[in-house]
Amino acid sequence: MEAHIVEWLNLLVRWGHMITGIAWIGASFYFIFLENNLNRTKNLREELAGNLWAVHGGGFYYLEKYKNSPQTIPKDLHWFKWEAYFTGLSGFALLCIVYYYNANAYMIDPSVMALTSTQAIGIGIGTIIGSWIVYDLMCKSSLVKQQKLFAMISFLLLVALTYGLTHLLSARAAYIHIGATIGIIMVLNVFFVIIPGQKIMVASAIKGEVPDPSYGQKALTRSIHNNYMTLPVLFIMISNHFPSTFGNENAWLVLAGIMLAGTAIRHWFNLRGKKITNYWLLPFASALLVSLVIYTKPESKAIEQLNTKKVSDMEIMQIINQHCISCHSSKPTSTVFSQAPKGLMFDNLNIILANKEKINAQTVNAQIMPLGNTTKMNEDERLKLGSWIEQNN
Ligand code: HEC
Repeated sequence: MEAHIVEWLNLLVRWGHMITGIAWIGASFYFIFLENNLNRTKNLREELAGNLWAVHGGGFYYLEKYKNSPQTIPKDLHWFKWEAYFTGLSGFALLCIVYYYNANAYMIDPSVMALTSTQAIGIGIGTIIGSWIVYDLMCKSSLVKQQKLFAMISFLLLVALTYGLTHLLSARAAYIHIGATIGIIMVLNVFFVIIPGQKIMVASAIKGEVPDPSYGQKALTRSIHNNYMTLPVLFIMISNHFPSTFGNENAWLVLAGIMLAGTAIRHWFNLRGKKITNYWLLPFASALLVSLVIYTKPESKAIEQLNTKKVSDMEIMQIINQHCISCHSSKPTSTVFSQAPKGLMFDNLNIILANKEKINAQTVNAQIMPLGNTTKMNEDERLKLGSWIEQNN
């Protein structure tokens, strides 16, 4: 029953997280689009920075951006902050429901480091808080004025963090904590800098004063940082579906490559928005992604290593029974899962055969199943499973 409730909690919170996340990133993309496409020259009133016509959903829209604040601040002023806050809160809740609640299965990989649940959760939360502190200090230092250097140092720190986490936690927990770290930095940027900056702007506009431009400048800097973080963070949130990324021996390197490609693509779009044509960013990102495809290619050495000895169906059933059935069965005995995860029930040979590609990806290549290796599957058993799958191809 408990596992069933947790599954529904997971479902509802994840659903909410997706919805608020889409609303947040969607609004942020929309405002970038506006900035890039405002008419800033033709037939503008003196007080305007730009305007824009659009057609959408069967209606025409007309929008104006002011150079400074308007004469009077309208009563109904939309802020766009709850999307960000709820994305952050639901994301953290999800982290607790999926990862911290079942830390043994999801956070710890004894072959990486035999941590206790408390240690693993401590590392997770410590990473998020520590990273925010370092990032915020960097933003408050003079480093922030040198954009390129700032970007390079941030990226290197992030890669170092990824390297560190993949050597402490299970690979998927390491990935998701990098995602959570970036995501929470983005939310805290909104909470601590962007919205307070806007509040000061509005307050001084109401008093009829010219707002101190430094607040706007700081908010803009954080906004730009958030903009560059969107593509990497969105990949990480779906990374759990792709065992060839986090299941790779050098999972940190794969993630570094993907983050770099994502940031380069974002940068290309930003330049294009400013009508600057760049010729190397997209080819660079594509080449990087193609080299990742090649780098993560699974090696099929299972048969060679076993001297082509035939593995029997009986042996495989035994391995699966011992290592998988506690979760992947019509009646799981696991205390964590009351229903077979992903509906995969390996109760008979035909089902195992039907899912052999997935099993190969998860258990032989990426070695991320059994989850947290709670059933202590060894290398020899993985090789046998791999050869048997190759024999049945
Ligand atoms: C402790 C429970 C547990 C054990 C034991 C376990 N699994 Fe899983 N398995 C899971 C969970 C949970 C998921 C879903 C992961 C996710 O949400 O991405 C999963 C997913 C999978 C998937 C599907 C992945 C996908 O995204 O399509 C395969 C294939 C798989 N397991 C194979 C195995 C094999 C083979 C074994 C035994 C060698 C095994 N599992 C042992 C819990 C377990």
